[in-house]
Amino acid sequence: MDKLKIEGGHSLKGEIEISGAKNAALPILCACLLTQELLELENVPHLQDVETMLKILEHMGVGCFREKQKVSLNAAGLNNPYAAYQWVKTMRASILTLGPLLARYGEAKVSLPGGCAIGARPVDQHIKGLEAMGAEIHLEEGYIIARAKRLKGARIFTDMVTVTGTENLMMAAVLAEGETVIENAAREPEIVDLANLLIQMGAQINGAGTDIIRIEGVKTLHGARYAIMPDRIETGTYLCAAAITGGDVFLRRARNTILDIVLDKLLDAGCTIHLENAGIHLKAPPRLKAVSLRTAPYPAFPTDMQAQFMALNAVAEGVATIRETIFENRFMHAVELMRLGADIQIDGANATVHGVARLLGASVMATDLRASASLVIAALKAEGETTIERIYHLDRGYEQMEQKLSALGAQIKRVR
Ligand code: EPZ
Repeated sequence: MDKLKIEGGHSLKGEIEISGAKNAALPILCACLLTQELLELENVPHLQDVETMLKILEHMGVGCFREKQKVSLNAAGLNNPYAAYQWVKTMRASILTLGPLLARYGEAKVSLPGGCAIGARPVDQHIKGLEAMGAEIHLEEGYIIARAKRLKGARIFTDMVTVTGTENLMMAAVLAEGETVIENAAREPEIVDLANLLIQMGAQINGAGTDIIRIEGVKTLHGARYAIMPDRIETGTYLCAAAITGGDVFLRRARNTILDIVLDKLLDAGCTIHLENAGIHLKAPPRLKAVSLRTAPYPAFPTDMQAQFMALNAVAEGVATIRETIFENRFMHAVELMRLGADIQIDGANATVHGVARLLGASVMATDLRASASLVIAALKAEGETTIERIYHLDRGYEQMEQKLSALGAQIKRVR
């Protein structure tokens, strides 16, 4: 299994480009199931999760063609509405095929995702919403078996804010009979990106980005050409990497309107930030100040940036408290950061981080996607060499991370 070796202590300087967003690309790829016509996508990142989704779609009979950052999809030949466990177990976002398959094809067999390192992550709200739209759903040998002649519009109130739940129900509703209203909807920018594509395909959607989304179903959708938004979590991750090393970087194509609270926290930590149309420029002080945070659904602080900020606070001046409200087991990176010399106490959903003067390189293990990003950030600061194992987690969500960090002056190499 590949490992990363990082020699810390080098300040990041220079310019890199931000890739397309993983969490927008995954639902957007599934939208191809809603039409018989060609969907041409641009700015599609090269990530393990994207490759897995393309395999799942191909297995369903979708024609997939990829050239660099462009992906063309044609689901006219869709003939096998089945997402197998072998893929779903590696990527729970496969559940996003369920809504569009039911809406367009009237039946679907999709493996239940099962648990994940960061939490139980059930999909009961996805199922509840589809049943409210008239789908007949039962579970059989670990699979969701769903059928519906034509889905009917419904008023759906989700018990908690769910990102992929909102996306699945939105994609189901665009071809349903009548109006669907999703209340307590997630407001993440990736949901707006998906809605913008669906509207371009002929869907009638109002309120994406707010907590009430109204969808008037139509009979058919047509093809479209669409460019996927830049990745705000990748952006936040590189801003943190620059901040912890006292660096000075420009992130080309980063969108500054969807990262407010993350940028605010970096300003509180002492960074200087310039927002430009072409991207985001960050200059960091020699030592950061500790910043406390509480994760919650957008526009509050994203849980997908919690681990990276724990790494920042590990060497900041002062004490920070971190409260994780979305996932019940998302502090796995803390014990690994402690192997580098961090001083962290965990008490259920709360972490207290006492900033230390220095971290020392060691061998550490990645446990999930964002945890691995926090270990890379800490390793860039740690004295000496750090080895990070199980970086397949990283490859799921970061395109060419070692190349991008090397371009900013990091001493990093992948050991196959
Ligand atoms: C999306 O996951 C993202 N994944 C996650 O990013 C992100 O952490 C999460 O939203 C929260 O922002 C993608 O977009 C592919 P949720 P999702 O449904 O949709 C509970 C990354 O690092 N819940 O919003 O699966 C759930 O257990 C990944 O890129 C139910 O109980 O998250 C959690 O506690 C990790 N029942 C909470 O709601 C349901 O039916 C929010 O989960 C659905 C969710």
